[in-house]
Formats: sequence, structure tokens, C-alpha cells
Amino acid sequence: MNQNLLNELRRIVGEAQVLTEDVDAFVTDWRKRAKGKALCVVRPGRTAEVAAVVKACAKAGVSIVPQGGNTGLVVGSIPDETGTQVLLSLQRMQAVRAIDGENLTITVEAGCVLQNLQAAAEQAGFLFPLSLGSEGSCTIGGNLSTNAGGTQVVRYGNTRELCLGLEVVTAEGEVMNGLAGLRKDNTGYDLRDVFIGAEGTLGIITAATLKLFPMPAATLTAWAAVPSMSEAVRFLGLAHKHLGAGLTGFEVMNQFSLSLVDKHYPQLRVPLYKETPWCVLLENADSESEAHARERFEALMEAAMDAGCVSDAVVAESLAQARNLWHIRESITLAQAEEGLNIKHDISIPISSIPEFVRVTDAELSAHIPGARFVDFGHLGDGNLHYNVQSPQDQDFREFQRLYEDKVNDIVYHNVRRFGGSISAEHGVGELKVDRLPDYKDPVAMEMMRRLKRAFDPQNTLNPGRVVRA
Ligand code: FAD
Ligand code: MLT
Ligand code: ZN
Repeated sequence: MNQNLLNELRRIVGEAQVLTEDVDAFVTDWRKRAKGKALCVVRPGRTAEVAAVVKACAKAGVSIVPQGGNTGLVVGSIPDETGTQVLLSLQRMQAVRAIDGENLTITVEAGCVLQNLQAAAEQAGFLFPLSLGSEGSCTIGGNLSTNAGGTQVVRYGNTRELCLGLEVVTAEGEVMNGLAGLRKDNTGYDLRDVFIGAEGTLGIITAATLKLFPMPAATLTAWAAVPSMSEAVRFLGLAHKHLGAGLTGFEVMNQFSLSLVDKHYPQLRVPLYKETPWCVLLENADSESEAHARERFEALMEAAMDAGCVSDAVVAESLAQARNLWHIRESITLAQAEEGLNIKHDISIPISSIPEFVRVTDAELSAHIPGARFVDFGHLGDGNLHYNVQSPQDQDFREFQRLYEDKVNDIVYHNVRRFGGSISAEHGVGELKVDRLPDYKDPVAMEMMRRLKRAFDPQNTLNPGRVVRA
């Protein structure tokens, strides 16, 4: 039967686009925590081909795992270990279908790499603000399917807020066309928002219409040494007050996370971190002239120093210097991976409670795991912390994982609940958190999610075992 399906898939997309060998890159997850096995990797080039592939798989009773850039961090984009699933890669569907400068929209296919989408917008004179450390390989289909956040959320929102419409192939292989690019449409349920963040469990996104923005006239970036997390939160309040809507990013990084960047990428020359427990990277971008924007930005930095929130700071003097500061921040994930496997979190907490959450959780974890190392950083402006735990120096990670992963997650998630937060602010649920989610999500919401899954995908064809168990 599988041979019949393989033949049918070859007929649909062409012999060369059905891979059964050399597929390691498609079946291994980015963190190398997990490796699956696929019946085949199929690479359609058009929406009609995606629809035909889904129909063929549904008819054969074979499930599908959609994949974009495979940069996801929760084991959601690789097949399971059975060798029975079809890995559907959107990689070949990269076209920019249209740019409408008056409507301020761009329509692209799902496999378009984020960096290429940013470049296409820029070439047309606009900004597409979504920005992540993985932007050189993640795709807009993956960004939408995980509702990715990144470093510009304070001003522009998550991927959801940037999307006006979707083209989706349903679990039955039908095509839903919602690419009109309307800013207002109240004709019933918002299906777009159901597919966004669904991690490929409800439909396959094949194209999207997204918002464009005017290019900012001036962008200013600063790196500040901050004495404590409480002072970082106070500094954020001052930044909102002084910069208003000009504040685009506000990132926090602890000393250990920056020491890993310094250790693995010394050429980046991490500033200020040796003398301070926390650093903040912030950005202001708007339509004001450079001189006016700089005046306000410098007034903020002065006020923060006077208030004792900031002990030292560097304001970037050039675009190259600003880029380097962002490069340091975005290298933390890679430096952490160089250091070895680790237990990752992408939690959110009301910003006001973050200092207390960190204090309490650090203390509880240190009591349970002497020598545990905390790689804490993240999008403080969004109340989203990457509260990661690295094994004690010289302890083998697999051993650390076996002994402590459950305990670490218990402590972190317990405190997330205590402070009214979410166990995933960015990376999603995937396979990694699927069995934890029911313990932390409202039970009525959880049951509604199961019903949604059954309604949209009654045969459980799309990415089974991820997000919710059907
Ligand atoms: P994949 O990893 O291929 O897939 C992710 C999920 O979406 C899977 O469940 C998959 O089945 C599904 N999927 C993919 N494409 C489709 C489609 N077309 N239709 C339906 N389902 C689909 N995430 C953040 O939110 N913020 C960050 O700042 C951030 N920084 C990162 C930095 C690094 C260095 C790395 C490695 C990852 C980072 N991530 C971040 C995580 C990751 O890059 C994002 O989740 C990204 O949106 C995934 O895109 P992708 O194309 O790689 O998707
Ligand atoms: C980031 O903010 O850099 C990402 O979400 C990736 C990570 O958590 O490592
Ligand atoms: Zn993040």
C-alpha cells in the first residue's frame, strides 16, 4: 500500500521531489534532541500539488508532518520514529506573489524564508518587521504556524498581528482562499486566527498576505548594564514613557548567557557584561528625524542613569555597531547549543511579576540542583523570558536530563502558574509539551481545542501527537 502511495506522490510532484534517501536534515530537529524517520519527504511546488498530496495521504490513511525551515524548538516539524509518516516540505514554494504598496501588503508563499521576505519588502521601500535569530532559514509558513514572536513585538506584535489573510489546504485536501488583504472583515468566525499558531495540526498554510510598514527614518540602539531584574523592569517603564510608540524592542540578557556568547564567539566583543548581572538591549525606531530621535533617546538614557536603573550604557554610533549588538543577542541560542544540550523554556509572565518569578525559581532550582547554570534572556518588553537551565559544569547532559528534566519543568511551570503566566509564549507546544499542556491550560479551553482538532481533521492526518492528542 505504501508503494502505491509513493507512486501516487511521484505522479503528483514529479519523481525528483519525492525523497526516500539522504533525508537526515529533514528528520532531525534543530536542537538535535530528537530524530524521526519518514516514509518519504515530498516537496510540492504549487498549492494544487499540496492539495493533491494531502488527498492522496488521507485516502491512504497516512499522516503528514508539514515542515518549513525546521528551526522549531519543540519537536513539531519532524516525523515520529515509525517511518510511516509523510514529511511535507514547503521549501520549494517561495514566490512573492504580489506587493500592493497602496494597501501596504505583501502576498508570499509559505516556504519563503523570512530573510528573503524582509528583503523583498525592503526592495519595494517598506518594512516587514518580524525579526528572529533564525530568520536566515525559518519560513513565513513556519512563523505563522508557530505564531512566532521575536524582537520587534513591543511595537509590531507577534506574527498573528502581521497577517491579514491565509491560503490553506485543509485536512481533506481542499483549498481555502483568504488572501484578500482586508483590514476589516466581520463575516463570521475568523478562520485565519485558528490556523495561526496551530503548528500544522489543522491545515497546511500555502500562502499569506501580510502587513507592510513604512521604513523608519531613524533607528537608535543602546546596550545597558542593569543592576537587577527589578531595575530592568523599571527601565522598561521609563523607556515606554520617553519613547512612546517609538520603542520597538527591549531585550534582557543575564551575565551567564552573555558569557557563553563571549566564550564561543569572542570576535563579537560583548560589551559591559562582566561587571553586571543583567544587560538590556533596546531599540527606538520611528519617523522622526535622526537628530530629534537621538535627543529623546539620550534623555531616556540619562533619566535611567539618574534613577539608578542603568549603571553604564553604550549607544550605537553607526548601523554596523547596532547590528553587532543585535548579533550578540541573537547568538545566545547558538552559543548555548555549542555549550551543550539544555532545558529550554519560553514562558510568559505579567511583566510586573518577572523579578519575583526569577528570584523564587532560581532559588528553588539551585536548592534541587547544586551548580545548575541559568541561561536567562528574552523579550522583557513582552513579558517573555527564555528561562533555560544548563547542566552543572562537567555533568553529561543526558545524565542531567534523565535526573532533572521533569523536576526542572515541574518547578518552572509551577511558578509560571503561580504568577499567572503561560508555559509557552513563543515556541509552541509541539511534541515536547503536548502531555504537559493539559495540566496548565484551562480545562474548558483544552476540551475546545480537542473539539476543534476533531472538527478540522477528523482522520487525524495532520501532525498527529502535536499540540493536542486527538
Ligand atoms: P518549522 O520548524 O519547519 O515548523 C514549525 C511548526 O510549524 C511545526 O509544527 C510544523 O509542522 C509547522 N509548519 C511549518 N510550516 C507549516 C506550514 N506551511 N503550514 C502548516 N504548518 C507548518 N521563535 C520565536 O518565536 N521567536 C524567536 O525569537 C525565535 N528565535 C529563534 C532563534 C534560533 C536560532 C532558532 C533555531 C529558533 C528560533 N525560534 C524563535 C524558533 C523558530 O525559528 C520559530 O518557531 C519559527 O517560526 C519556525 O519556522 P520554521 O519555518 O523553521 O518552521
Ligand atoms: C530567542 O529569543 O532567541 C529565541 O526564542 C530562541 C531561544 O529561545 O533560544
Ligand atoms: Zn525568543
